[in-house]
Amino acid sequence: AMLGAAPGPLAGRRVLVTSGPTHEPIDPVRYLANRSSGRQGHAIAAAAAAAGAEVTLVSGPVAIPDPAGVRVVRVETAREMLDAVRAALPADLAVFAAAVGDWRPAAEQASKIKKDGSAPPSLALVENPDILATVSAMAEGRPRLVVGFAAETDRVLDHARAKLARKGCDLLVANDVSPAGGVMGGASNTVHLLGRDGSLETWPTLGKDEVGRRLVERFGTRLGTP
Ligand code: CTP
Ligand code: CA
Repeated sequence: AMLGAAPGPLAGRRVLVTSGPTHEPIDPVRYLANRSSGRQGHAIAAAAAAAGAEVTLVSGPVAIPDPAGVRVVRVETAREMLDAVRAALPADLAVFAAAVGDWRPAAEQASKIKKDGSAPPSLALVENPDILATVSAMAEGRPRLVVGFAAETDRVLDHARAKLARKGCDLLVANDVSPAGGVMGGASNTVHLLGRDGSLETWPTLGKDEVGRRLVERFGTRLGTP
């Protein structure tokens, strides 16, 4: 397939997108995971490709098809995702839509933990690297536009503003993922787009494909003409 050959607002741009959950192994048959279908991240990758960009999609385990015209790198864990992201740089634009596990089991057991009739095992956890914060803080080779996501269940804008400042990204896409909203795994999304410059847009509920197209339009405007 021809990559990045289409004319469009992102023609000639290199774009990196993370999507989906991570799986953090406990033992050979069990893992810790986040809830994420990958639909929004994949839609952004597809929209960026349609806008002419050369797109690398670093995806955790998902059950949806690869978007057309995109190079897909499949990973399982947060650490593998960070490695794949580093390998995919440099890029003009990086969008971190993945639901990365904040913690992983401190040790992966080589053999299956058995239910041997005693008390349930306890799970010691250690923190995973923060991929978005790592890329945002790169002294050399930082993408010009770094975009984070914030999935929140309450006080969405408060949490989002704090997260934008803490992560060091340029734009943050915040959405309300409280169970009543049906965003998780669903086809639509209600998002706010916050800029480090203080800008705020709140969009109506839209299909995830349409959210992807609109976001890509905004990214194109921010990057300007190549
Ligand atoms: N993210 C990441 N690497 C991590 C954790 C998060 O790249 N280890 C990215 C996500 O892809 C998203 C953004 O950081 O773009 C915000 O993720 P979120 O889980 O909302 O933020 P956290 O800082 O982990 O805060 P929280 O305690 O709310 O989970
Ligand atoms: Ca998190």
